[in-house]
Amino acid sequence: MCGIIGYIGPNDATPYLLEGLRRMEYRGYDSAGVALYNGTGLEIRRAAGKIAKLDAVLTAEPITGSPGIGHTRWATHGPPVERNAHPHMSGDGTVAVVHNGIIENSTVLRAALEGLGYVFKSDTDTEVLAHLIEELFEGRLEDAVVDALRRVEGTYGIAVISSKDPGKIVAARKGSPLLIGIGEGANFLASDASAILTHTRQVVYLNDGDVAVIEKDRYRVIDIDAQPQRRSVSRIEWDLSEIERGGYDHFMLKEIFEQPRSIENTMRGRLILEDGTAKLGGINLSHEQLMKIDNIVITACGTSWHSALIGELFLEELARIPTEVEYASEFRYRNPIVNERTLCIVISQSGETADTLAAMREAKRRGARTLGLVNVVGSTIAREDDGGVYLHAGPEIGVASTKAFTSQVIALALFTLKLARKRDLSVVRGREIAQALDALPALIEAALKGAPEVERIAEEFKDATNFLYLGRGYNFPAALEGALKLKEISYIHAEGYPAAEMKHGPIALIDEQMPVVFVAPHDSVFDKIVSNIQEVKARGGKTIVITSRDEPSLAGLMDHEIRIPETLDMLMPIVASVPLQLLAYYIAVKRGANVDQPRNLAKSVTVE
Ligand code: AGP
Repeated sequence: MCGIIGYIGPNDATPYLLEGLRRMEYRGYDSAGVALYNGTGLEIRRAAGKIAKLDAVLTAEPITGSPGIGHTRWATHGPPVERNAHPHMSGDGTVAVVHNGIIENSTVLRAALEGLGYVFKSDTDTEVLAHLIEELFEGRLEDAVVDALRRVEGTYGIAVISSKDPGKIVAARKGSPLLIGIGEGANFLASDASAILTHTRQVVYLNDGDVAVIEKDRYRVIDIDAQPQRRSVSRIEWDLSEIERGGYDHFMLKEIFEQPRSIENTMRGRLILEDGTAKLGGINLSHEQLMKIDNIVITACGTSWHSALIGELFLEELARIPTEVEYASEFRYRNPIVNERTLCIVISQSGETADTLAAMREAKRRGARTLGLVNVVGSTIAREDDGGVYLHAGPEIGVASTKAFTSQVIALALFTLKLARKRDLSVVRGREIAQALDALPALIEAALKGAPEVERIAEEFKDATNFLYLGRGYNFPAALEGALKLKEISYIHAEGYPAAEMKHGPIALIDEQMPVVFVAPHDSVFDKIVSNIQEVKARGGKTIVITSRDEPSLAGLMDHEIRIPETLDMLMPIVASVPLQLLAYYIAVKRGANVDQPRNLAKSVTVE
């Protein structure tokens, strides 16, 4: 959501902080700031808007020194104006704090601090931390931070520096990711590995409850009771080129076009064609445990929730296990039927989504085994699940998820194949699915060739104010995902619906102004969806039909046709996603929207 960066070392911190903030700008981007120790005291610079604004402020009024901390903000408390941008300073200017998350008891703490004479300058919950740490400071910054955090309710990833104990950055996490980057003669702190990757690949992921004391040539981790903690060092394996645009106008376009490779990477070494199954090293489920599963709950948010809907269909059709899909944000506030014979599959690109993480913890608390389908290696969900399947889709920078979605569906297909072959699925059918998966990258490549036609269609509909997306069976979740993509980045209202359900309400919306996207490949429900297309045409709606064959029954029903290659019914939503993503992308670009950083959204939603 927001981004945190810190540097401590022999050099001036500012360039490191700015570079890190730029690399994290995709995560949260309504304001930014830095604070440095300049040798005698703390100085801050902040600006509303993009990092370029902060850069301009720093050029006009430079500051130098070390250590330094920086932040990009995604507003929760108070509008995105300079006074609410982080870092926040304590009353006497000796403590500076950056914070991701929400301090839930900030109102009470604020009142108490105001009672002690502290004057608040911002509307944020974070400012209480700065004053509280100043109030509790008795000589060592880490002691004051620990003392302050004991009084705080809520979630946080924080970085703190103080002019009264200037040789360190103190960081702490509870519900918001942070890692230490280990450099040579210098150390880093970041909420996202991309922020420090040009300087080091050696990182220490902090756990919830950890407090880190980072000096230029060493670091240590303690817990909230000041007890030392051992944390292992991990190596970041991906490359910087993967988080650069590589000649594409936007990350989103690059990521759409990467899909033949990203899904190949999700499958690499996992498909066993001759046995019609999959090998998944990290699931940590024995044959007996797999056989004992009575029911499956899949929990996720947003795009990941859409892939879960496809997974539900896979698991019920092929493994014959009752499966339910739950919005992670709702899951823990009801009384779900989850026990030790339940497998809870948790899907998250970032591995940090607060709602999804909380749902996973709740499922564990109820005795379920958890299986994480996660893209970001070392993320919290990946570290806390009982077993997992990494997506290996590579870093996804565009806020609108594309390649992670298709890789999630692939991972679900692989897991289903493994489970189903143990339970109900014949080797013949297993082989057929494995071969179809193996052939998929080439089909995605072919679907991408349709980009120019999709762009022409986008030109015609770029000024539409509403869109309907309809699909049936496996392609209903694809329709939901197509609608989500469009609204996220173009700000056009779009709804996804099961095509046959349209006549029970949304059909009232159809008129000559209403574009309706049908995801209608030639599958087992094709004839059914043709009737739904007729219903729209009969009311003057404009149809954009994603289909896979020349079909006489479609003659005269398609205002626009987008042709995609065919595969098994269950894998069609993966292929159909390509034109759906491209349509959203081109419409958004033609409307002049900021595709990679759409308004109000953040890549990783770490608040509830
Ligand atoms: C996707 O385009 C969205 N930006 C959003 O719905 C996202 O899928 C959701 O926030 C869940 O994120 P996660 O997969 O990282 O958990």
